[in-house]
Amino acid sequence: MSTTEQNVISLLVNVWYLETARIRLYEIYAKQAVKDGYQQVAALFLEVAEQKRSHTKTIYRFLEESSSETTISTKTMSFEQTLKNLEHAVSLEDTESEGVYATLEAQAWDAGLKKISTKIKLFRRIKLFYAKRFNALAENIKNNRVFERDEPVKWICRKCGFIYEGEKALKNCPGCEHPQAYFEILAENY
Ligand SMILES: [Fe+2]
Repeated sequence: MSTTEQNVISLLVNVWYLETARIRLYEIYAKQAVKDGYQQVAALFLEVAEQKRSHTKTIYRFLEESSSETTISTKTMSFEQTLKNLEHAVSLEDTESEGVYATLEAQAWDAGLKKISTKIKLFRRIKLFYAKRFNALAENIKNNRVFERDEPVKWICRKCGFIYEGEKALKNCPGCEHPQAYFEILAENY
């Protein structure tokens, strides 16, 4: 194996550990979002965690024939507030996309590992999209727009599917009695 290829494998291992740890982190963030009354945010963290599971599987396939090993650094993190958790997630996804992922994409390309480079390039785009969505939800929390809008909108209960039109989400769902936390703006893409 050439030195360049070894570099690529080493970076892939780093990214694998990093994203595997991220899956767990986002599961913890999802639990906190439930506690804080943001069901929609919780669902997004879990959705992203599940998609990252797919990314790590792809990366693991690239590593299957490699014997490289590495360790990850851990630092104490606090998980106590969903707004901070969202902002942390934005920063992680943005920084990694432009950092380790960009380096990995370039080095894999230079090493002639075009399949790996192409896949990493796609994952970078996905990570930027994650950052954008996490940021939009953080802005909603900061601007009191999670359960309230200037114009009437359709709110749907994530629990039972009850739909209500108005400027504010109801305090409790008439369909299932679950609290306002379960409401989100109805989005139809069919
Ligand atoms: Fe409901």
